[in-house]
Amino acid sequence: MDAEDIRYMKLAMIEAKKGVGRTSPNPPVGAVVVRDGEVVSTGFHESAGEPHAEIIALKKAGERAYGATLYVTLEPCNHYGKTPPCTKAILKAGIRKVVYSCADPVAGHCGGGLFLRESGVIVTEGILKNEGEEILRPFLSVYLKDRPYILLKMGMTLDGKIYRTNRSGYITSDESLHHVHELRNEFDAVMIGGRTARIDNPRLDCRGVTGGRDGVKIVIDPTLKNLSPELKLFQKGTVIVVTGDDCDKDRLSEIKSKSECFLKFIIPNGDIFNKKNLSTVMKEIATYGVSSILLEGGSYLAGQMLHHHLVDSVKFFYNSSIAGNNGTLSAVSSITGDDFSDFKIKIRALESYVDDFVVSGDVIYKDT
Ligand SMILES: NC(=O)c1ccc[n+]([C@@H]2O[C@H](COP(=O)([O-])OP(=O)(O)OC[C@H]3O[C@@H](n4cnc5c(N)ncnc54)[C@H](OP(=O)(O)O)[C@@H]3O)[C@@H](O)[C@H]2O)c1
Repeated sequence: MDAEDIRYMKLAMIEAKKGVGRTSPNPPVGAVVVRDGEVVSTGFHESAGEPHAEIIALKKAGERAYGATLYVTLEPCNHYGKTPPCTKAILKAGIRKVVYSCADPVAGHCGGGLFLRESGVIVTEGILKNEGEEILRPFLSVYLKDRPYILLKMGMTLDGKIYRTNRSGYITSDESLHHVHELRNEFDAVMIGGRTARIDNPRLDCRGVTGGRDGVKIVIDPTLKNLSPELKLFQKGTVIVVTGDDCDKDRLSEIKSKSECFLKFIIPNGDIFNKKNLSTVMKEIATYGVSSILLEGGSYLAGQMLHHHLVDSVKFFYNSSIAGNNGTLSAVSSITGDDFSDFKIKIRALESYVDDFVVSGDVIYKDT
């Protein structure tokens, strides 16, 4: 790979990351226009319906785009969607060469590279492809798995415990907490189980992050019996409540009427936690424009999601304390059967904070 291509593609990726968590159902994409070894302009896709990254960068470049190279993290689109095809704008601007990281997998959207090549533009693809796919994970998950990309985040003691059942409180440090809020800023939604909503009463918002925004809040609770409409997470923002068909109907209308927030209720038939229902729920959540979910527990929901192969990655925050087994809850519970061999975590990073350390990895299921 050409060192110049790598250098400018890295810049395009920095641009793309500015849109992470803001563009769903579209992918975050970044672009850079380079002429005679100089960066002429940059751009990124800000949100669905807004101009694509290439168009922003080309517009900023103006006449300086003529004869230049365009670096873009995703293959330029070649179709009329909410906006006209980027390929047309690229040709009109007189771009000489286009370098992109990932091919567009979506049938009907792809083919931009080929079209440009056939129109006389030099086209190079696959530069920093792995890094490019990393940025596109939520978009690719919806396209390939028909559900959002799901990352399980848990905070625990060194021996993998969260506090005693029905007790709340932070286990990990303020530094870790800040990092969690940064993560929330990058995910379309934050999801928890009903007991966590009740016991911890979290706001699930994004605090202390410059330019941060709150994502959609999702609660999964089969009965609603113990879910008060006064809980903090219902007071502000967009909430999706997933409950059972035999839930407490009075409570359901109470939450609906008392809450100021915009609510959607998803009510599958029968046990929410069986594979079919949980998978259907995740699929339906994606239809609301949620391409990524930060799953923040609790223990039972985390276990069920893993058991049904619905978690893609994990981020476990460990504090140096030891809890033992005196009434404590395992960070991930309710995994039944021979699950030690059903999936493994492929560790991708180990980070050390002042008081905690963090293990990040991808979940590799046996049947995939
Ligand atoms: N350290 C961390 O990172 C972290 C993160 C999140 C939560 N937590 C802690 O985790 C605890 C809550 O986790 P959790 O596992 O008890 O609940 P949870 O996963 O938050 O919620 C489980 C939901 O599933 C329902 N459910 C159905 N069958 C169940 C079963 N057999 N066991 C448990 N729930 C069942 C519960 O309904 P009912 O409520 O009607 O039983 C509840 O609505 C709290 O103490 C919270 O502080 C820690």
